[in-house]
Amino acid sequence: MAQQGTSLCVLAPAKLNLSLAVLGRGPDGFHLLETVMLSIRLYDSLRVSPLETNLIELICRGVPRGANSKSIPLAADDKNLVLRAAHLLKSHTGSQSGAAIELTKRIPMEAGLGGGSSDAAATLVALNRFWKLGLTSPELHSLAAQLGSDVNFFLDSHIAAECIGRGEQVTPVPVSRPLHFVIVKPPFGLSTGNVFRQWGTNQQSSPLSVQQTVDALKTGRLDQLAQATFNDLTAPAATIEPKLAELLSRLQRENVVASGMSGSGSSCFALCRNSAHARTVAGRLRQLRLGQVFAVSSGV
Ligand code: C5P
Repeated sequence: MAQQGTSLCVLAPAKLNLSLAVLGRGPDGFHLLETVMLSIRLYDSLRVSPLETNLIELICRGVPRGANSKSIPLAADDKNLVLRAAHLLKSHTGSQSGAAIELTKRIPMEAGLGGGSSDAAATLVALNRFWKLGLTSPELHSLAAQLGSDVNFFLDSHIAAECIGRGEQVTPVPVSRPLHFVIVKPPFGLSTGNVFRQWGTNQQSSPLSVQQTVDALKTGRLDQLAQATFNDLTAPAATIEPKLAELLSRLQRENVVASGMSGSGSSCFALCRNSAHARTVAGRLRQLRLGQVFAVSSGV
């Protein structure tokens, strides 16, 4: 977070789910998860500036190409997570302040990369400071959980964390080395709700446990990490969108350490041996025109 004149600027990173187990469906209809999330150096950014009125104004720039026909909902309804976060903060605190928020999108949407959740977390943290509200971390976490399952992970800028419950109970995980990935966001997106519903039709679960991912991140051994990567939502996502299976098998044919889908898709990732390897693989995949391709490392 950086002060620039009267504005406050904050970066909102994306995440990858290195492993994701669906344990079942809770009484509230949400699915119970165990997942290991890793922050990656692909960012949206927010700039918060003063406004004379008590309104929240949102300008959105840089909606990524290939983000299918859907754009970020910008109307002042309850769909845009930045606006929802700002209004939730106002109603919770009774604040009469306003702000102009400029959101620059780089993280693809409907991609399983947590962009909307990260924007919401960044909004909570930035406005708490900008409006001098003095909310504590537990208060911010309680608001975050109301906004979406992944928002809590992003609040504290962890490099990695084990997330359970709906995903909102976050325990940081130490990461002993930087990790390098290629991410491919295909032209199609996937709706989280639809993918979870599809999981419900045959409820397949991997025998692997996210604890293996936690251990692998601690040791930093890539072979161990390769064995520990899984995602119970991959099969349901590929049932909805068969091209996903093609993309994953294309990534597996690259000489990479491991590959998988992030979150509920549609982005897939390949874990590479180092940053040069990631750049080489990214270059090859770009030529195949599979979608947007990013070479990124872990970190906040
Ligand atoms: O939390 P988020 O807004 O990303 O979730 C979108 C939808 O995905 C939810 O409305 C719900 O249908 C489904 N979901 C779920 N279990 C979770 C997270 C999301 O069923 N743990």
